[in-house]
Amino acid sequence: MTATTPKLLIDRFGRTVDYLRISITDRCDFRCVYCMAEDMTFLPREQVLTLEEIYTLAKAFVDLGVKKIRITGGEPLVRKGALELLENIGQIDGLQELVITTNGSQLEAMAMELKAAGVKRLNISLDTLDEDKFKAITRTGNLQHVLQGIQAAKLAGFERIKINAVILKNKNHLEVCNLVQYAVDNEIDISFIEEMPLGIVDQHDRSNAYYSSDLIRQDLAKQFSLVASLEKTGGPSNYFKVNGTQTRVGFISPHSDNFCSTCNRVRLTVEGRLLLCLGNEHSVDLKALLRAEPGNMELLKKAIIDAMLIKPEKHEFNVHEQPVILRYMNMTGG
Ligand code: GTP
Ligand code: 5AD
Ligand code: SF4
Repeated sequence: MTATTPKLLIDRFGRTVDYLRISITDRCDFRCVYCMAEDMTFLPREQVLTLEEIYTLAKAFVDLGVKKIRITGGEPLVRKGALELLENIGQIDGLQELVITTNGSQLEAMAMELKAAGVKRLNISLDTLDEDKFKAITRTGNLQHVLQGIQAAKLAGFERIKINAVILKNKNHLEVCNLVQYAVDNEIDISFIEEMPLGIVDQHDRSNAYYSSDLIRQDLAKQFSLVASLEKTGGPSNYFKVNGTQTRVGFISPHSDNFCSTCNRVRLTVEGRLLLCLGNEHSVDLKALLRAEPGNMELLKKAIIDAMLIKPEKHEFNVHEQPVILRYMNMTGG
């Protein structure tokens, strides 16, 4: 790069991008009702970035100031070679934090290896502790495997473990106190997420299923004392401490409390598109560039820097309308 090439990624609104989320597979062993349709077609292998391509892209982003990388899916741990990739990315000079978001299904077997590969924190999806509701939400998931996975993760000694729970009215909104109690008992954190309208789902009407973070806070207040905290993890959660415990409760509120003004992240989709915003389609095809000019890091970095010019100011999610974004969440891992 020339002496004038910026070493930081800054967008038109003055936001510094230092957090990259990489989806390493669109495949998943679950079919969560808010994330996928029941009958999904996954990408053919040639359209998916190779592990080497993912590593090259991660390196380019870290060279441009990215400090935190989160590996996502689909379910990232079902991709062959995931551990080796994590180990390699974890060693990139300048990267401060390598983290992962998982559905927990493979953790019982893989938690120790993940820790050894350099993963610092884990976010694990868990929307209910009720077997029947778990089946109804994940369609193909097994609750006991996930709970055993969480115990394995605790034993492996990650810096932090956080549960992510997407709350849908009349599906699992009565579960919020149980989930917080579980987090308290296990000395882990939990974030509640308002459902985002990505892709057309067939199981429920997203408008009717909307349950706001405010309502969840009111429900929790009946059983717990929540104290607002200024702590941030670089993600969109607003945190509260459960008084007298180790547990933090976060709220990710794309509808009721827009967090776009502090956005610090971009996403790499499984087919190599650099997505500038989860709630818009603005993107740059980095896979095409990589395959046209293999090894040309300067070209890649220039494309990434230029992409900052098209990062949208905010998402335009509206739960009461049909989704304008047809991409499902498994393309970006959230
Ligand atoms: P931490 O590093 O623990 O703060 O994680 P995180 O909250 O950034 O990541 P996680 O994978 O746990 O994401 C939780 C939820 O937040 C997912 O449903 C994501 O889709 C959502 N989320 C994360 N970043 C954004 C964002 O930029 N925009 C929107 N709308 N949602 C986001
Ligand atoms: N809205 C909100 N969160 C979602 N997730 C998947 N699909 C959606 C959606 N439509 C969550 C998962 C996981 C995280 C990466 O994204 O539950 O915790
Ligand atoms: Fe950033 Fe877009 Fe998410 Fe808003 S919706 S926080 S701009 S990625």
